[in-house]
Amino acid sequence: MTGPGAAGPSARSAVSPFYVMQVFQLAEARRNLGLPVYNLAIGQPGTPAPAAVRQAARQALAEHQLGYTDALGLPPLRAAIAEHSRAWYGIDVPPANVVVTTGSSGGFLAAFLAAFEAGQVVAMARPGYPAYRNILTSLGYVVQEFDCGPGHGFTPTLAMLQALDPVPDGLILGSPANPTGAMVAPDQLAEIAAWCRDSGVRLISDEIYHGISYAGPGASAWQFDRSAIVVNSFSKYFSMTGWRVGWLLVPDELLEAVDRLVANFTICPPTLSQLAALAAFDAHAELEANVARYAESRALLLQALPAIGLDRLAPADGAFYIYADVSDHTDDSLAWVRQVLAATGVALAPGLDFDATDGHRFARLSFAGDITVIEQGVTVLGKYLQAGG
Ligand SMILES: Cc1ncc(COP(=O)(O)O)c(C=O)c1O
Repeated sequence: MTGPGAAGPSARSAVSPFYVMQVFQLAEARRNLGLPVYNLAIGQPGTPAPAAVRQAARQALAEHQLGYTDALGLPPLRAAIAEHSRAWYGIDVPPANVVVTTGSSGGFLAAFLAAFEAGQVVAMARPGYPAYRNILTSLGYVVQEFDCGPGHGFTPTLAMLQALDPVPDGLILGSPANPTGAMVAPDQLAEIAAWCRDSGVRLISDEIYHGISYAGPGASAWQFDRSAIVVNSFSKYFSMTGWRVGWLLVPDELLEAVDRLVANFTICPPTLSQLAALAAFDAHAELEANVARYAESRALLLQALPAIGLDRLAPADGAFYIYADVSDHTDDSLAWVRQVLAATGVALAPGLDFDATDGHRFARLSFAGDITVIEQGVTVLGKYLQAGG
């Protein structure tokens, strides 16, 4: 091997790992030993794809050639997503502006590359979903984090954005947010979108947890500004994480760029998943039943956590997470979640994954899984904390 890059991995690949993966590995090792595990760390629904989706997949497998599709996705799926936008937000979205992607993760990659030059500045809230920061960093953008922790109600506001120095080139807004479940109210989103437009800031609105909310539905950035890029996915509300299918709403001026990029990156999103996803919009009854179960688990945790001394919690208005201040127990969230797992079998996500500055005092609990496991997990966690853990 010769050449400058041959000695090892590139500097741009040196992004932070997902620390929660260490917790999963340790939890799996425990399970293999026959020890109990209560997984409150997992960031995905415990349910499979809706029955109609699985049936559509079986049918596609039997009858379809499953070759490549258009790079921007199957036309009927793009039309169905446009119709979904009309049904949920009352907005008229031309199917031509809908781009089907390989999960929202593939959507982020295309959106960032289409919208920003290397070296440009993109702002995001801290705590926040770690892949925003890591994808941006590896692509050569400058990440500008702003504090959206407990001192700021966990919700981005116009005032926070106006205080940004320099004014960024882009802003990623996740609502409902991972890990806090915080939601930006529709009037606030309208204000933020207007500020972005007036300040030349490209808004990237992550709406992947829409449909999973407990205090009213979220608004879409496209209700207020068609120069925003909307990122969404079949992963969460539609319970289709492993199918790797998501979508973007792309402003006219970026469509050709996105087309060129996604065609080169992936040729097209997975065809079987696209055909199956077409049936997802007929599965609302099943999907609403999932959300009702999340609501039940959320209520259980919001009652049980304060009772075991964890009473400083982020809003949890949407998604399926509770972000808890655990500073009474630790100032090293990664070490602490490992201790908790070893002592009790309860798996939690360390705040460090979401916030390199203050995350050492926080842990994220997921209520996406089975309510019985959640109930048992919080009970054993409570006993452990009571015993001084
Ligand atoms: C806020 C947020 N955005 C995006 C994603 C990526 O999801 P996917 O690529 O499965 O659509 C996740 C996954 O956990 C997430 O929490």
